[in-house]
Amino acid sequence: MSPATNPRSASKPLNDRPESVSFFNYQNGQLYLEQVQLNDVVARFGTPCYVYSKACIEANFAQYRTALAHRNHKILYAVKANSNLAILQLLAKAGAGFDIVSGGELARVLMAGGNAADTAFAGVGKTRAEIEYALAQGIGCFNVESTNELKLLSQVATAMGRTAPIAIRINPDVDPKTHPYIATGLRENKFGIPIDDGLEVYRLARSLPGLEITGVCCHIGSQLTDLTPYLDAVSRVISLVDSLAADGIHLHHLDVGGGVGIGYVEDAPKLSVGEFCAAMDKLVDRRLALHMEPGRSIVGAAGTLLTEVVYLKQAPERRFAVVDAAMNDLMRPALYQAWHRIVPLTQRNDDGVDYDIVGPVCESADVLGRSRRLAIAEGDCLAILDAGAYGFVMASNYNTRPRPPEVLVDGGRANLVRQREQFDDLVRGEQLLG
Ligand code: LLP
Repeated sequence: MSPATNPRSASKPLNDRPESVSFFNYQNGQLYLEQVQLNDVVARFGTPCYVYSKACIEANFAQYRTALAHRNHKILYAVKANSNLAILQLLAKAGAGFDIVSGGELARVLMAGGNAADTAFAGVGKTRAEIEYALAQGIGCFNVESTNELKLLSQVATAMGRTAPIAIRINPDVDPKTHPYIATGLRENKFGIPIDDGLEVYRLARSLPGLEITGVCCHIGSQLTDLTPYLDAVSRVISLVDSLAADGIHLHHLDVGGGVGIGYVEDAPKLSVGEFCAAMDKLVDRRLALHMEPGRSIVGAAGTLLTEVVYLKQAPERRFAVVDAAMNDLMRPALYQAWHRIVPLTQRNDDGVDYDIVGPVCESADVLGRSRRLAIAEGDCLAILDAGAYGFVMASNYNTRPRPPEVLVDGGRANLVRQREQFDDLVRGEQLLG
């Protein structure tokens, strides 16, 4: 995740990344997504604007599907990565289940045509109201993160005359070697139940009314490109599964958490979906259903944030390209020092110079990319790549900036799947004093 310098020149094709199916490419110097010229999207919908490829999302999902087709499995798309209804709808149609972390995400899944029964509800802070709602909808599994949550689940389910299907989320205490903000499976993290307490917590679950033990889950972090921490974590969970069996507790599924990381930086170490799935398949007994919750690797490389260069500015130390997208639209660079490739929509015959790409928000952290060699003029548009995951969903209205529209490209068509916010949307619900 650390910043690097000029990982790619703008003139190379963008579809040469074997680890993820990419549908971006230049034709006659113009950047296309599938068969849509992105300058046409700008002309229709303006900037900043998120654009996603339907075919790319489907292809990324199919990679998981194909890799696990021979065994009992479920791919639960992590809704938090991109929760646009049209994207949930296309994934539901492709046969995805869902991984959610709030009642709101469950409502989205249902609106988009997903099944509650194929949905797992994770998160350390499920409220009574959220538990009631999920039970009433027939949720497939609660991924339980504490003993007090287990007790509340038992109480609520009993009061409703229902049975809550549960998996305990085990914290295996494994270092995922990713950015500390997105590591989740270390002892000091807030997530899950320490592996050493696993047996005891399953025994508690067995003793409580209204619960049905269905599985076990873990999640050690996101943007993982090394298989070793996954192997460590899942092996630890498997030894717990064996101790449970010896105690008469038999599980139906093992959920290994999120999917693989993606190649934000070219030539960075990579873990392919096929390699990851094959390793998990080998490790996890086929009598258990293998569940996975990929988010980033399904939608990340399928999306871009388009932005226009408003000003080119020469400061004493650096050269800036001030664009109309900002940290409120794409938080990842400011929050995690994440690297996103930035390329022009129209290529110029010029070597270009180095720019820091910055937004208009009043924070020095409002940098979308540092030291990027670009041949650009004011009024040109840029594509910030790999922005389909944890992009729009983390956007805010900071500085009273309306959030961008979202467009889903399908072949030669660009469909608006979320309108640009308007000022009225931002002040709705606010009141002046009488
Ligand atoms: N399952 C659970 C329980 C999770 O917490 C997450 C992500 C996933 C699945 C999906 O993981 P993925 O396949 O996307 O790696 N905002 C950060 C990422 C936070 C991820 C949190 N959990 C970012 O922009 O990098």
